[in-house]
Amino acid sequence: MTKKTNTKLSFIGLGYVGLTTSICFADKDFHVIGVDVDKSKLKKISSGKSGIFEPNLNELLCKVLKTKRFSISDNLSDSIKKSDVTFITVGTPANHDGSVGLQFIKSAATDIGHALKNKSSYHLVVVKSTIVPGTTENIIVPIITKISGKKYDEDFGICYNPEFLSEGSAINDMNNPDKIVLGSSNSKSKKIINNLYNIFYSTQKINIVNTTISNAELIKYANNAFLATKISYINTIANICNNIPNVNVDEIARAIGLDSRINSKFLSAGPGYGGSCFPKDVKALIQFSSSLDYSPKLLIAVDEVNQLQPTLIINIIKQKLSFIDNKTISILGLAFKSKTNDMRESVAIKIINELLKQNPTIKVHDPEAIDNAKQIFGDRVDYHNNIIEAIKNSDCCVILNDSIEYKSLKPTIFKKYMNKALVIDTKRIFNYSEFNEIVDYYCYGVGSY
Ligand code: UDX
Repeated sequence: MTKKTNTKLSFIGLGYVGLTTSICFADKDFHVIGVDVDKSKLKKISSGKSGIFEPNLNELLCKVLKTKRFSISDNLSDSIKKSDVTFITVGTPANHDGSVGLQFIKSAATDIGHALKNKSSYHLVVVKSTIVPGTTENIIVPIITKISGKKYDEDFGICYNPEFLSEGSAINDMNNPDKIVLGSSNSKSKKIINNLYNIFYSTQKINIVNTTISNAELIKYANNAFLATKISYINTIANICNNIPNVNVDEIARAIGLDSRINSKFLSAGPGYGGSCFPKDVKALIQFSSSLDYSPKLLIAVDEVNQLQPTLIINIIKQKLSFIDNKTISILGLAFKSKTNDMRESVAIKIINELLKQNPTIKVHDPEAIDNAKQIFGDRVDYHNNIIEAIKNSDCCVILNDSIEYKSLKPTIFKKYMNKALVIDTKRIFNYSEFNEIVDYYCYGVGSY
């Protein structure tokens, strides 16, 4: 099989997934047009700034812009005319009831329908946005068919191809995936999409799962919900550990992770999972399942455990400080995980908002997320770029993520600068006995010795 391609791709929606994926395709010699309605975003991208906090993404963007294999446009119709395959990578924000918001998907399908009216050659649409089973075939296909007047499977095809990119390692995840899932409904579209990925991965051995469109849609949710389940499970074990002397959840996780049936990943206990995917996807799967008259009790519990985690941390803070009014509390780690500036669904938001109800002074630090935090908390908290300034004169310091900057802190620093050296570590980043000797150290998931 030839490893060169003349297949031209377009991507609708240059958010996190769309931009990263399109740049990676361009880096593999595909000609790619990135389409977005946001002109200011396009201007930034064309100058080599992705606007996304992702290692190596700006460098790769500059590289593919230079080779002219990557171009951007706000003209969807023209981009579809110039390409053979269009990826839909628009967002699917949650509705109030947790169900999947389809406004951007519907609008992309409508625009594709209009564009296909004037196209005579076969066009493949590949949906990447996270949507519940049935959405591609029952909503997207009918919209495109009705507006374009074209025949599904004959004039255009559809595939569903979920993404599994983690923030902070998206390029590596794209280039070295555990699997590629391809949902298709006919042999022509299946062949095109398989060819694309065969060219992308060339001689690399990749697990490609060919399946139905509805299976592929559900695989995405089942995958994320399983990972979320592992986290809520280990958090449940951590909550039990808290009450048993000489027990440490990391030791438990390490041992059970050695069982290959369990494996060690996603067993790091903490204040709960956040981000743009897990909270939304677990809720959407619950909502979808309930709409089918099945109450998914396990997933409901996963979500409930996660929602309770920040409350448990708040209770520990309250218990340790006796009262919060007029106290100074430092929060280290605002993003939903380390190495990102993303604050979406971060537990820090819940914890800080709840604490603020009792009028403490809150000082916050994050290596990357301060600008985004300002959009959320405004002038209700004090922002610090320097860790020492962030903990100075504080009565309590709460560590909410495992940023490398925090791991190197010594207990003497807290002792020296804080008013009362109380450290609440929700990620167990410090050595327990070293810290316990010098500061009042509460280590989540470690029963007091
Ligand atoms: C996730 C999925 O991993 C990815 O496949 C999907 O496509 C998008 O959602 P992401 O949201 O970037 O990626 O972050 P991830 O690293 O999965 O972490 C999600 C949340 O779980 C974070 O809040 C993280 O701190 C938390 N987490 C993760 C834990 O609390 N413990 C763990 O062991 C792992």
